[in-house]
Amino acid sequence: MIWVNRSKIENPKLKIQGAAAHWRGMGDNAAALRTVQVALHERSYDILIQPGILGDAGPLAASRLKGRRCLVVTDRTVGPKYGPRLAGSLQRAGFDGSMAELPPGEGAKTLKVAEFLYDRCLDAALDRDSCLVALGGGVIGDLSGFVAATFYRGIAFVQVPTTLLAMLDSAIGGKTGVDHPQAKNAIGAFHQPRLVVVDPLTLASLPERELKSGLAEAIKYGVLDDAELFAFIEQHVAPLLAKDSAALAQVIERCAAIKARIVSQDEREQAGGPRALLNLGHTFGHAIEAATRFQSYLHGEAVAIGMCLAASLSVELQLLKPEDRGRIAALVAAAGLPTRLRRDDPDTETLYAACFKDKKVAAGGLRFIVAERIGAAKAVTDVPAELVKRVWEAGRE
Ligand SMILES: NC(=O)c1ccc[n+]([C@@H]2O[C@H](COP(=O)([O-])OP(=O)(O)OC[C@H]3O[C@@H](n4cnc5c(N)ncnc54)[C@H](O)[C@@H]3O)[C@@H](O)[C@H]2O)c1
Repeated sequence: MIWVNRSKIENPKLKIQGAAAHWRGMGDNAAALRTVQVALHERSYDILIQPGILGDAGPLAASRLKGRRCLVVTDRTVGPKYGPRLAGSLQRAGFDGSMAELPPGEGAKTLKVAEFLYDRCLDAALDRDSCLVALGGGVIGDLSGFVAATFYRGIAFVQVPTTLLAMLDSAIGGKTGVDHPQAKNAIGAFHQPRLVVVDPLTLASLPERELKSGLAEAIKYGVLDDAELFAFIEQHVAPLLAKDSAALAQVIERCAAIKARIVSQDEREQAGGPRALLNLGHTFGHAIEAATRFQSYLHGEAVAIGMCLAASLSVELQLLKPEDRGRIAALVAAAGLPTRLRRDDPDTETLYAACFKDKKVAAGGLRFIVAERIGAAKAVTDVPAELVKRVWEAGRE
């Protein structure tokens, strides 16, 4: 644990207001501040996207929070790279607190680690007006959000995502939680952040495989909701893979806007609500992850294969044109992601059985999100088992 210097510095409120006014006037360029609002009445919040914004996170958080005590939660990969800038900014904005660095990876998303963080919250003397700040990927965001949801029956939290997946997906929407030894994300709560601060420059250090995994989710948004976004990714796949910050910022903004709109309409993923559409590729993808014991594929890679399988199912159900399935698979491949299962992956029966372990299996049977065209999706149930198995079988190298 690294303690942030406890000395109080000037209140930067006036400075922030000036900066915000300046940002609003900027055009659509790489350096511009992009603001997406998640409209949820009293739980509404902003997603602020801008290269370099990490250094302004403190004042931006201060203007939205009552208290000035915080615990920054990060991991040992991200903390040393970006922790000092974030902590310095928080400190200059008058925050007082500490930073907890956890081991990186999914292994930290447990109740045991949550308990460790409750201890750190108490050590840092957090009160009900204090906040947690999650600096890292989806693991840190989900875990910190869960601790924030439960500590003193719920305190504020701010998301500072540093993976592409977290920036355009997991940091938005308030799903928080930890894993149970028998089931991923089994213990959790809906708890919306007060602010999401996205600095695409932090992606500079993200391993290529993690970047591609995040791109899978971006492609997913294109398929389920936004044909223009899909075409943009098709046309800019090379700059996106090269981490061009203008291209990345545009994709993050567009995906964040889709997620914000869907979450605003259906915060808690009600039966039949639009939030379920975000699970395109996930019934297959989660089964792949579970059947391979989370060892073979990153989440986005499993979703990439799952999306191709969902597209095949959509063609089988005569909802999607085969050429659109071809476009989806071609873009997944161009993004350096797998489109098919490997020959030595678990067999079809094992994968089919794994579909039923997903906590999102609707009462009464499997539910798949299928594409009707690029840019539109819907949920289907009662898909014959033979058809699903045929799709699994055909989706192998
Ligand atoms: N809450 C939601 O709505 C939601 C949605 C999708 C996924 N998730 C969850 O998100 C998690 C996966 O998130 P993830 O893909 O971000 O993985 P992650 O948080 O494990 O991060 C991946 C790796 O990248 C490293 N890393 C992060 N940022 C970095 C940076 N800028 N530079 C260098 N290294 C960096 C991390 O240390 C880690 O080793 C899963 O637990 C999944 O269940 C949640």
